[in-house]
Amino acid sequence: MINTHNIPKAELHLHLEGSMKPTLVRHLAKRNGLIAPENIFAPDETYIWKDFLDFLKVYDQATLMLKTTQDYRDMTYAYLEESAQVNTLYAELIYSTDHALLCGVSIEDSLNGVIQGIEDAKRDFGIEARILLAFVRHFGVDSCVNVAKWAAANPHPLITGVNLAGDEIHFPAEQFSVAFRIAADAGLGCTAHAGEMMGPESVWQAIDTLPINRVGHGVRSIEDNKLIEALMKRNITLEVCPGSNIALQVYADFTQHPLRRLKDLGVTVTLSSDDPPFFATSLANEYDNAVRYFQFNEKELLEMTRNSLKAAFVDENTRQKLLARVAV
Ligand code: HPA
Ligand code: ZN
Repeated sequence: MINTHNIPKAELHLHLEGSMKPTLVRHLAKRNGLIAPENIFAPDETYIWKDFLDFLKVYDQATLMLKTTQDYRDMTYAYLEESAQVNTLYAELIYSTDHALLCGVSIEDSLNGVIQGIEDAKRDFGIEARILLAFVRHFGVDSCVNVAKWAAANPHPLITGVNLAGDEIHFPAEQFSVAFRIAADAGLGCTAHAGEMMGPESVWQAIDTLPINRVGHGVRSIEDNKLIEALMKRNITLEVCPGSNIALQVYADFTQHPLRRLKDLGVTVTLSSDDPPFFATSLANEYDNAVRYFQFNEKELLEMTRNSLKAAFVDENTRQKLLARVAV
């Protein structure tokens, strides 16, 4: 099997709070004088949860150990350090201001930590990263509109987009069109989870009602030929996270997962790790699995990295510099 270590990688879909390993969560709990939620930790640096909605709750429990700017900085730096070590050139970090507020940390204090983590990691490892603000569906339409308004009023060069996340089952995409309009008008890149827990109709709704040119997951688009055509015609990039999909039982195993079929049909696909320790994965593991289970060759892996960089919410100058590092 080809060794993917030296393949340059890029990640468009990573929930920052979902990147914390239990060891880090324990460390933060101790530092903040809190009791770590031991019942959600598995022995192998992963987490225990039952299904998608339970996963979202466990995710919140881990997140609640974040209390200070330093915590946000350390979380960001830990993820970027590990990513750089496996030749990740670029990562987009989905960060939830609403979760920060739940933790009792202000948007400014948490964000300053994320920014510091990005700057420190760039200095130490050369890795580029940008921040996407999360619109969390199950926190409701109003809180997403508030996030959008905050973003429009507080532009920052490292905040380059928004991503609709959370409970796709009970909160359909079109409810969030006003929040997306505000974000798009402020010049932010827009993407949304869809076709993960729900079928093709959820992807149709997202691409028809939101100003997006990427879809988080989108894998269940494979069930609708017209949707596949629409994704190609509209140049929509899928942020595919196979390890996440299998952990959440969207597909029973890799043989059922549509990554290879989507690619062969001509859909623009990329690889990401979503919430790595929750799904017992990492970006390096996703590249390995693309070889092991989907027979991607080196050229096809490089093509996925280039797809990520082409669809990245980053300034053109940085994009071209990064693309120049991914020779095909
Ligand atoms: N899906 C939807 N929402 C999320 C996820 C996910 O995998 N992780 C954190 N929020
Ligand atoms: Zn996600």
